[in-house]
Amino acid sequence: MADQLRYDGKVVIVTGAGNGLGRQHALMFGARGAHVVVNDLGGNIHGGGKSSAAADKVVEEIKALGGKAVANYDSVEDGASIVKTAVDAFGTVDIVINNAGILRDTSFHKMTVDDWNLIVRVHLNGSFAVSHAAWPIMRDKGYGRIVMTTSAAGIYGNFGQANYSAAKLALVGLANTLAQEGRSKNVHVNTIAPIAGSRLTETVLPPELIEALKPEYVSPLVGWLCHEDCRETGGLFEVGAGYHAKLRWERTRGHSFKLGRGFGPDEVAKNWSKIVDFKDGEYPTNINESMAPLLTNMNSKSLGGNEFIDLDEASRSE
Ligand code: NAI
Repeated sequence: MADQLRYDGKVVIVTGAGNGLGRQHALMFGARGAHVVVNDLGGNIHGGGKSSAAADKVVEEIKALGGKAVANYDSVEDGASIVKTAVDAFGTVDIVINNAGILRDTSFHKMTVDDWNLIVRVHLNGSFAVSHAAWPIMRDKGYGRIVMTTSAAGIYGNFGQANYSAAKLALVGLANTLAQEGRSKNVHVNTIAPIAGSRLTETVLPPELIEALKPEYVSPLVGWLCHEDCRETGGLFEVGAGYHAKLRWERTRGHSFKLGRGFGPDEVAKNWSKIVDFKDGEYPTNINESMAPLLTNMNSKSLGGNEFIDLDEASRSE
């Protein structure tokens, strides 16, 4: 296909690429000219075991399609060695798909410290470690694309997944800041919340849904977000079964108490309907927009008149 989006020569790391979504992302990039590092430690869905077979199989599949790929069997917690595999094999890294994941589902009152720590280590620390090792390379070359994989469980919560929800939503926070820090260097960072049939979901979804929710329906969004023509950064997307949508924060107009007069829980209670009313809601997209009504309220009183703080400026240290 002459007009298809291509990744010729781009070096892509896909973590957890031995199965499910990661495998599909890796095949897509491999079929479109990328050099792919297929990372997978080959464990079970609860984080136990280890095998090179899963990654090796996907490397062979990519090669059979005429693509270039190497395997890496390290845990994502060892992000530096995954990036080293990319640099040793292909000289650089352009794209990182943080996808590896496991589950330790149990209700919060039964959750052990191990259940919590393992999930945070694989999802959050793993995505940090791979991205952190790739970051200086991307900054130096003025090009980079990173995708985080969150979950509806993180965005909305889900019974029995306190550890997973917390780690997954933490990735959105990480991506929000990396998108801001990477923007001027053409390093874009987006997050997907996919839904797809895989060994992770086959225990909770009926077989006909597993069959219908193909991982193939998620990879095209990942491909577009990572293409050099795509300007999107800091986005959060729900994707699956052909459905694609972007999420954003919505905030009520809110209510501000006049400063200097004092207010307590009684005034909060009295004004509750205004505080929680989403009619005429607004959509802050950054910390300055978030702070604006607070600062307006402060300035409307007496705190030194118009001393607005440029938080971006204050926190920037290039
Ligand atoms: P999967 O179980 O089919 O694939 C995950 C792969 O990650 C496995 O091959 C596994 O060996 C690998 N892996 C696990 N821990 C690893 C580690 N420490 N280092 C390297 N590789 C490791 O699962 P699936 O469904 O493809 O999930 C992919 C990602 O998408 C996960 O992050 C998951 O949490 C997320 N996700 C999936 C959803 C779905 O509907 N399938 C829903 C929401 C999020």
